Amino acid sequence: MLKITVLGTGYVGLVSGVCLAETGHHVTCIDNNNKKIAALKARKIPIYEEGLEALTTKNIDLDRLKFSTNLIDTLNESDIIMIAVGTPIADESTGTVNLNYINECVSEIAKLLSKNIIVIVKSTVPVGTCDNIQKRLDKLSNFECVVISNPEFLREGTAVYDFMNPDRIVLGSDGREKKTVNQLYSKFIEEGTKIIYADRRTAELIKYASNAFLAMKVGFINEMADISEKVGADIKKLSEGIGSDKRIGSKFLNPGPGFGGSCFPKDVKALVKLVSETKINSNIIKSIIKANIERFEKISKDIMENVQECNTIAILGLTYKAGTDDIRDSPSIEIIKYLIKHGRYKIKTYDPVGTENCKKFLSDQVEYYVDLYKACTGASLVVIATEWDVCKKIDAVKLKNVMKDLNIYDLRGIIDKEHFLKNNFKIRSIGYKQNA
Ligand code: UGA
Repeated sequence: MLKITVLGTGYVGLVSGVCLAETGHHVTCIDNNNKKIAALKARKIPIYEEGLEALTTKNIDLDRLKFSTNLIDTLNESDIIMIAVGTPIADESTGTVNLNYINECVSEIAKLLSKNIIVIVKSTVPVGTCDNIQKRLDKLSNFECVVISNPEFLREGTAVYDFMNPDRIVLGSDGREKKTVNQLYSKFIEEGTKIIYADRRTAELIKYASNAFLAMKVGFINEMADISEKVGADIKKLSEGIGSDKRIGSKFLNPGPGFGGSCFPKDVKALVKLVSETKINSNIIKSIIKANIERFEKISKDIMENVQECNTIAILGLTYKAGTDDIRDSPSIEIIKYLIKHGRYKIKTYDPVGTENCKKFLSDQVEYYVDLYKACTGASLVVIATEWDVCKKIDAVKLKNVMKDLNIYDLRGIIDKEHFLKNNFKIRSIGYKQNA
C-alpha cells in the first residue's frame, strides 16, 4: 500500500483522501486552515456529503487517515503527493483561473523535498499547467519529480459514491511511474475500471470537455423544455424518448432553472478563454454560459409576470442542486437576486441544508424558515427551485391551507401535478403546457 499526502481538504481533496484511505492506502490530508484540520481530527466534516463522515471515522480508527497542517510532517515519507487545492475563477469576465494556490503548493514541495516523488494534480487546471509544474519542479528541486494530471469527476452530493465507482480514471503523464500510479488505483483496476492513459494536456482538456459537454446537455434540454411548453409536449417523455438512444444517454436530461455550482460555470468560462486564446471559432462553447444566464433571467421574468408587486413569493430550495449545502452560482440565488433588484416582493425561503450558507450572501434581504409550510404561509406563488425530496413530497392540502393564492411554479418538474390540480392549484411546471 502507498503513502499519500493530499494537499487541500476541499471537496475534491477531502473526498479523494478519505476514499483512497478506504481503498487501503495510508493518507495524510494537509490544509493550512488550522480550524478545519482541528475539526477534521475531531471527525467533524466541514461539508454536507453523504457517507463521508462514516468513512472518515472508519479510516481514522484504522490508522490509515491522518490530518495535518504541516507538509513537512509527511512529504518525505510519501510515495505520492496529490495536489487538490482550489482553482477558482480569478476574473469572471475573462475566465482566467486563479493558480495561486497551486503555485504555492509547488513552491512548498520544491522547498521541502528531500527525495524523488510523484506529484499528482487532481485540481481542475488549464491546459498546460501540469507541463509548467513539471518545468518548475525540474528547475527548483534537486530531486526527480514526476508530474501526472489526474482530473477528478466526482459530483457534490454523491461524491463518495462517484469516487468509489468511477466511469473511468484519466492519467496524463509522460509515461514515467506508470507502475506506482497503477498501484494507487489497483482496487479500481482489479474491478475493471477503464484507465485512460494520455499525455498531460489531453488529460487536462478531458476534464474541461466533460464538464462543458454536460453543461451543454443541460442547456439543450432546457431549450427543449421551453419548446415543449409552447407546443404542448411533455418534456419527461421527450427526455425518455431521446435518452433511450444509447448514443445520447439518459443522464443530464432533466430540465431546470439552469446549471450552477462551483464547476460548470467556472470550467465552461475557462474553456471559452482557451477558445479565444487559440483563436478557435467556437459558437457552441461560447453559447453555453450565455444561454444559462439568459435562463435565470427568463425564469425570473416569468415569476414576476405571475405575482403582483408587494405580494409574497416563497422560494423552496437555495442550493444549486439537491444533496449539497453548496450555494455557489446557484440558479435559485440568481433568481432571488433578480427579483430583489427588479421588483418589490416579500421573499420567504426554505432549504433543508443550504440556509446558513445563503445567509452569508443574502443576509436579511429575504426571510429564512426551517419549516417548508411556514415559508409558504401567505405566499401568492411558491417556486420549487431545487429538487429536494421534501419538495417532491409537498402536500397540496397543507399548502392550500397556508397560501394566499394557489400558484405553484415547479422549476424542476418534480411535483405530483394531479394532486395539485385536484386541489385547485394553478401549476406552471418546466416543460409542460402552461396550466395543463
Ligand atoms: C460536476 C460534474 O458532474 C462532475 O463530474 C465534476 O467532477 C464536477 O462538476 C467538478 O468539476 O468538480 P457538480 O457540479 O457537483 O458536478 O454537479 P452536477 O450534478 O454535475 O450538476 C451541475 C448542475 O447541472 C446543477 O446545477 C444541476 O442542477 C444541473 N443539472 C444537472 C440539471 O439542471 N439537469 C440535469 O439533468 C443534471
